[in-house]
Amino acid sequence: MILSPSLLSADFARLAEECAALEAAGVRWLHLDVMDGAFVPNITFGPPVIKALRARTSLFFDVHLMIEEPARHIAAFRDAGADMLVIHAETDRHPQRTLAEIRRMGCKAGLALNPATDVSCLRWLAADLDMALIMSVNPGFSGQKFLPCSFEKARAARALLDACGGAQTLLQIDGGACPENAADLVAAGADVLVSGSAFFNHPPYDTRARLFSDAAAPAATAAHTARCAAALAWK
Ligand code: DX5
Ligand code: ZN
Repeated sequence: MILSPSLLSADFARLAEECAALEAAGVRWLHLDVMDGAFVPNITFGPPVIKALRARTSLFFDVHLMIEEPARHIAAFRDAGADMLVIHAETDRHPQRTLAEIRRMGCKAGLALNPATDVSCLRWLAADLDMALIMSVNPGFSGQKFLPCSFEKARAARALLDACGGAQTLLQIDGGACPENAADLVAAGADVLVSGSAFFNHPPYDTRARLFSDAAAPAATAAHTARCAAALAWK
């Protein structure tokens, strides 16, 4: 399992120190929640903050774009140092084109689905995806309650990807993940767990990261382990 702590729950006055603490704790990925106040009610940060952090850490930047018309901004996020750009299916009328463009620019490409969005679109986009993201809360805020139907949705997404040429495609779950549900999430097909509040509110980070991985480990399949190893070699 790859843990991707969400910067949204970090101390915004000490972001570079938080990144250093994550690296010291053995964390490899950082989830960066970009919100525009239009697609979602909240506003967070954009390319300048990502660029400033890029100069201070080698963490893999998993950038979750909760913004309208993401195609207009992907070059700016790539230039800022994003390693992966995840767009929302609900924000783009031409997601295949945008995902192909993200890859052409040299980033990994991901597609996020809101809780009410069906997994069926993954069928036609599997070949264009490095990762599918299943939202297990409505996007906009950290600290929300996990939606239990997300287990079934993760199983459906994993099965669809496996059946449509996306067996190598990562599956990420975002919202309400914690050590208590980590094993069930991995058993349902999750490869990457995003965690905001359940991670940052429980220091020290090395102990917390270990708790997540120890909890998830018994649910790992060979295919899951291979997908995670391949993704950790991206950077
Ligand atoms: C929600 C964000 C999530 C959020 C997760 O819109 O996409 O990444 O920060 O926070 P928790 O883990 O607290 O639900
Ligand atoms: Zn997110």
